[in-house]
Amino acid sequence: MVIEPRDNIKGIVNIPGDKSISHRAIMLGSISEGKTEITGFLMGADCLSTIECFRKLGIKIEITKEKVIVHGKGLFGLSAPSDILDVGNSGTTIRLMTGLLSAQNFSCKITGDASIRKRPMLRVVNPLRQMGANIDGKENGKYCPLYIKGNQLKGITYKLPVASAQVKSSILLASLYADGKTTIIEPTASRNHTEIMLNYFGGNIIKNNLEIISTPVEKLIGQKVEVPGDISSAAYFIAAALLLPNSELLIKNVGINPTRDGIITVFKQMGGNIELLNKKNTWGEPVADILVRSSKLHGTEIGGNIIPKLIDEIPIIAATACYAEGKTIIKNAEELKVKESNRISTMTSELQKMGASIKETEDGMIIEGKSSLNGSIVESYNDHRVAMSLAIAALKANNKTIINNSECINISFPNFFSILNSL
Ligand code: S3P
Repeated sequence: MVIEPRDNIKGIVNIPGDKSISHRAIMLGSISEGKTEITGFLMGADCLSTIECFRKLGIKIEITKEKVIVHGKGLFGLSAPSDILDVGNSGTTIRLMTGLLSAQNFSCKITGDASIRKRPMLRVVNPLRQMGANIDGKENGKYCPLYIKGNQLKGITYKLPVASAQVKSSILLASLYADGKTTIIEPTASRNHTEIMLNYFGGNIIKNNLEIISTPVEKLIGQKVEVPGDISSAAYFIAAALLLPNSELLIKNVGINPTRDGIITVFKQMGGNIELLNKKNTWGEPVADILVRSSKLHGTEIGGNIIPKLIDEIPIIAATACYAEGKTIIKNAEELKVKESNRISTMTSELQKMGASIKETEDGMIIEGKSSLNGSIVESYNDHRVAMSLAIAALKANNKTIINNSECINISFPNFFSILNSL
């Protein structure tokens, strides 16, 4: 993909649906009774992998122009797949489904692409084994393929060693089938979409600060789910509008769940002119329109409890900080090392190729802002968020940038370039 520098971006835009919420709507819809109608579903490769997996488990899922309809079969309605479940590049699919599949009355095998086969699975396998799950896999379950033999599970109390919504959600899905209540204690709050959607579908999840208690219910009931725009996708255009002079952008209908809105806090902290308009809350997930105007940004320090609230936005924060005045320090972000790529090293090396002053640290990055970067030839490492973050950095560079292997953008934002070109 070739990116030419831009003077500004202007317009009103709708961003595709939230990836985390789209996955969960398919999963909960499949194990609920009756129909779940999903509007705003993200037709990205990751969410389509989730649909394919549930179709293999016997669930009818229709995709129409307006919506996705899941014909749920209830908590005990999944059937043994006749093939291996393939999650493609999707960490959310494999981690959440492993929880769900641990409690079924059949066995199956689940795997994914080369990147997924290198990502850590013990973080879900360990707590699920404590619940009684029978899971085997490569290096005793450290990596996938995972072999899951469904079992009767028991409720546990589990202190999460990392703030991970994927691990929390995997346990929550398993807890629906346990013989008693399950308590999960988070080190700091991570995205709570599973908790919100489970309660909307008739589940019984109670939250006391960092403690989440799940009590099994007899059934879940299919619902209408309006998926808000993905704040993680909006982040690229927010950054572009902040960075390019004389820009003004209105991004409509974006999810602003407080467990996901760290990017707004940080961009404002850097001097960003961002307003949230038309705030509303439809079925439990808060949404707003985001108005962004070009701003003079300065460096900042990011670490601690805010990290899980912006974990997927650190690549775009790093790219933006390269143009902010002064120093930006990102710390406590070691989780970035186990994402689709090691995002600390991949972002550091590619932004360095563009002339940025950025250093990799044990748990983050240190960036000295500059007024301009040089267009260059850079790599995506097949990581969608790396590709899109570099594309935004390239808009303000002083000549064109070529991003190799940019097709991975389809994972979460298939129309990224057409939206960018329309603004
Ligand atoms: C996700 C949780 C996060 C995030 C991922 C989506 C989810 O991962 O990085 O893109 O939908 O639960 P972790 O839970 O591993 O931090």
